[in-house]
Amino acid sequence: MSFPYQIRSFDEYKAAYKKSVDDPEGFWAGIAGHFYWRKRWDKVLDWNFREPKIEWFKGGKLNITENCLDRHLGSFGNRPAIIWEPNDPEEHHRVLTYRELHNKVIQFANVLKNNGIRKGDRVCIYMGMVPELAIAVLACARVGAIHSVIFGGFSAQSIADRIIDANAEFVITCDGAFRGNKEIPLKNVIDDALVQCKFVKRVIVLTRTRTPVSMIKGRDVWWEDEIKKVETMGHPDYPAEEMDAEDPLFILYTSGSTGKPKGVVHTSAGYMVYTNYTFVNVFQYQPGDIHFCTADIGWITGHSYIVYGPLSAGATSLMFEGIPTWPDAGRFWDIVEKHKVNVIYTAPTAIRSLMGFGLEPLKGKDLSSLKVLGTVGEPINEEAWHWYDEHVGKKKCPIVDTWWQTETGGVMISNLAGITPAKPTYATLPMPGVQPVLVDEKGEEIEGNDVSGNLCIRFPWPSIIRTTYGDHERCRTNYFATYENMYFTGDGCHRDEQGMYRITGRVDDVLNVSGHRIGTAEVENAINMHAGVVESAVVGYPHDIKGQGIYAYVIYQGSHGDDNLSRQDITQTVSRIIGPIAKPDKIQFVTGLPKTRSGKIMRRILRKIAEGETEQLGDTSALLDPGVVDEIRNGKL
Ligand code: WTA
Repeated sequence: MSFPYQIRSFDEYKAAYKKSVDDPEGFWAGIAGHFYWRKRWDKVLDWNFREPKIEWFKGGKLNITENCLDRHLGSFGNRPAIIWEPNDPEEHHRVLTYRELHNKVIQFANVLKNNGIRKGDRVCIYMGMVPELAIAVLACARVGAIHSVIFGGFSAQSIADRIIDANAEFVITCDGAFRGNKEIPLKNVIDDALVQCKFVKRVIVLTRTRTPVSMIKGRDVWWEDEIKKVETMGHPDYPAEEMDAEDPLFILYTSGSTGKPKGVVHTSAGYMVYTNYTFVNVFQYQPGDIHFCTADIGWITGHSYIVYGPLSAGATSLMFEGIPTWPDAGRFWDIVEKHKVNVIYTAPTAIRSLMGFGLEPLKGKDLSSLKVLGTVGEPINEEAWHWYDEHVGKKKCPIVDTWWQTETGGVMISNLAGITPAKPTYATLPMPGVQPVLVDEKGEEIEGNDVSGNLCIRFPWPSIIRTTYGDHERCRTNYFATYENMYFTGDGCHRDEQGMYRITGRVDDVLNVSGHRIGTAEVENAINMHAGVVESAVVGYPHDIKGQGIYAYVIYQGSHGDDNLSRQDITQTVSRIIGPIAKPDKIQFVTGLPKTRSGKIMRRILRKIAEGETEQLGDTSALLDPGVVDEIRNGKL
């Protein structure tokens, strides 16, 4: 496979960018032409941001798995598609070539069919990072079912909410998952979730940990048994379902500023074209490269840059089951050395946590195979950037700081490795096809350079969010109503003298904790579930490793006299309702919250106090009871 659309110089970037703005349809049609279509599109783009309605490659027919698998078989069926590194370094790693992955996807597509799963059905996938997770995802795409992958750290309640929202009648899970020295009983969690989801018809369970599970008759089946059935049927083929360009490919839930996570919907063709384009360009993919994205497939980064982007390009994608610090903080470097990784793509929080272990874990590790380093998920601080550059890249590997979101499907602003300039802490320049705009509070565009504002995008790109599942109006109000005719990202941004972009963080009530998006309202709702809690307010504060920590102010009446026990109770409640990732780092008990006369909590003040800026609280005269502020300030943790 060749990539005539791979940008090889800064001048080529400028030319591509210009073309993408002057003639977006011509630009994207030129790229889309390099994929395998059952039928070409009738119209490249049809859009308005009012409803919003966005259609790319309308009338086109395809199946993304034919582009990720079938079309590679002829020229490099024996190339590794997935290298899987297990949690325990003592266990053997696995390699699946494109041919093997293709066979397994077809096999499992038949399992899905045998279990009644059809085009358009929603399938919830709750698994650990094993190759079968990628197989399950691709098999859904093969049969045209819409996958909704849920990260293995979410609780039963979060899963139930998502299954109900998507009305998913099918679930694929594992008995358990290994993560570091922990074993997570995934099937038990699913059982708890499904108490609320009686409509679920089938649960397919993969054996991984041999954790004891209970199988419910008529509902639960073992993955392995189902595969055997397909084998006894004589390995039938599964010709890929023909999908419309705009048929939904998947739903992925993400937090917003309201309480309920939203199901972001991506569709087949645009998502395929854009993730491939960005993969090939941002990381400057060369045939044979081994790409190690450390994210979990439960997040968008894993969807786009473990599964669809690399596989559509015929790359070798390394999937890691474990965590960076187990059995020790040298694990990433062992993996790089063992598999001769060429690209590592990780989050600033991982870099900062590894920095904390010093240079010892890097000693004697051969990282010479590395060519490109990537970062994603949150702003990277200068110190972490330089540590990554010096100690991992040995100053020879460009760092790509990729800014994007679940809603954008693929990388939006980033340098192209070694091709366009990098600048520490800057995502730098937009990808071709991406037209960023900074706006002020009033929605006026801020022109010129060396300015800051809210980041919006003026024009659709192929993998832009199409809707929020089951609630289109929510998609409109969340992203397209704040500023007229623009997609609003929720991020603040600075544009420097040279026109380079630096993302400064969320400007809405969304936190970014260890690169995970968490809505403050969601955490408050969970805290309020605790019987002793009267009211709560949650804000973020700077955290050395996590980027942001969760600070909760809680009015509590259930006290058994021991504040620490009460804190534990509340933390457990949050863990149970959302999952351990949303546990507050600090809980301060208060007797009141600063509210305006109309009853609105003044988060600005709470944020300042949590950040330790207790002196400059600004104007507090609008408060109903200014005395509350002193109490809170004096009690700061
Ligand atoms: C933040 C992850 C600064 C940002 C792909 C965005 C970043 C949110 C960067 C989306 C970056 C992501 N620099 N901030 N390179 N990348 N963010 O949906 O606030 O999990 O809005 O998608 O992460 O998080 P999400």
